[in-house]
Amino acid sequence: MAGQNMKLGIFDSGLGGIMIAKALRGALPDLDMVYLGDTLHVPYGKRSEKAIYAYTRACIEYLFSEKDCRLIIMACNTASASALRKLQQGYLPQAYPERRILGVVVPTIESALEHGYSRIGLIGTNYTVHSNVYREELQKINPAIEILQVNTPLLVPLIEDDGMAWMEDVLDHYILPLKEQGIEALVLSCTHYSCLKDLIRERYDLTVIAQDEILPEKLADYLMRHPEIDRVIGRKGEAEFLVTDLTPNYAHKASDFYGRTIDLQKIEVMSYGV
Ligand code: DGL
Repeated sequence: MAGQNMKLGIFDSGLGGIMIAKALRGALPDLDMVYLGDTLHVPYGKRSEKAIYAYTRACIEYLFSEKDCRLIIMACNTASASALRKLQQGYLPQAYPERRILGVVVPTIESALEHGYSRIGLIGTNYTVHSNVYREELQKINPAIEILQVNTPLLVPLIEDDGMAWMEDVLDHYILPLKEQGIEALVLSCTHYSCLKDLIRERYDLTVIAQDEILPEKLADYLMRHPEIDRVIGRKGEAEFLVTDLTPNYAHKASDFYGRTIDLQKIEVMSYGV
């Protein structure tokens, strides 16, 4: 069914990526897109590599086979750190050689490098931090760059479960030590943390690298450099929001993250086994 009606896919482990979808839609409002959040298995950040790969691959397969996505933005940092390379090198060339999946690590690193920071802080999920993917990728390009990483597992539950009243105390615990160590910028390497960027900027007077601010320009640039992809994605301005589990709280959160009411639809994704 490939043609001029293919879609842009946006994948996240849960609902945080809706803030990325909102930003992409703000910049490219006509582009037909499908968002898929694996709410049945969120959070990915504390899971094993095997589980993250199996869940991610099942969702990516769904977006390609059922929704005819030509390009998928893997908004989830944990999946980008864990499953992306294996999908790009093993699965894609065999199953969908023409299609593409782009992660968030490389664009985020490019943005940090463009600004010339030499001492960077990073907060993320357990998996992302312990994978060391940001450190390795940054230091491949500039070995002199220092990256101070903190695993911040309490932030996603506080964001998802209405825990904002406790957020400042928890952020102080994670961020003040980084600030004391003289970081020049802080990378928010998790989809959910976009909603904390203003609070972090104000409270700690820090330069924040937020992915919802980076990705729209990077995507527009990518599409310009890849007309073969750009021209087959539909331009009717359609947007679908899919989840693998649906509760009233998820529906409420999704609309909250998007800034207006959206209709979440529950779908079944075939499992590949863990
Ligand atoms: N979407 C995940 C990420 O960006 C955060 C939530 C999770 O742990 O699944 O890393």
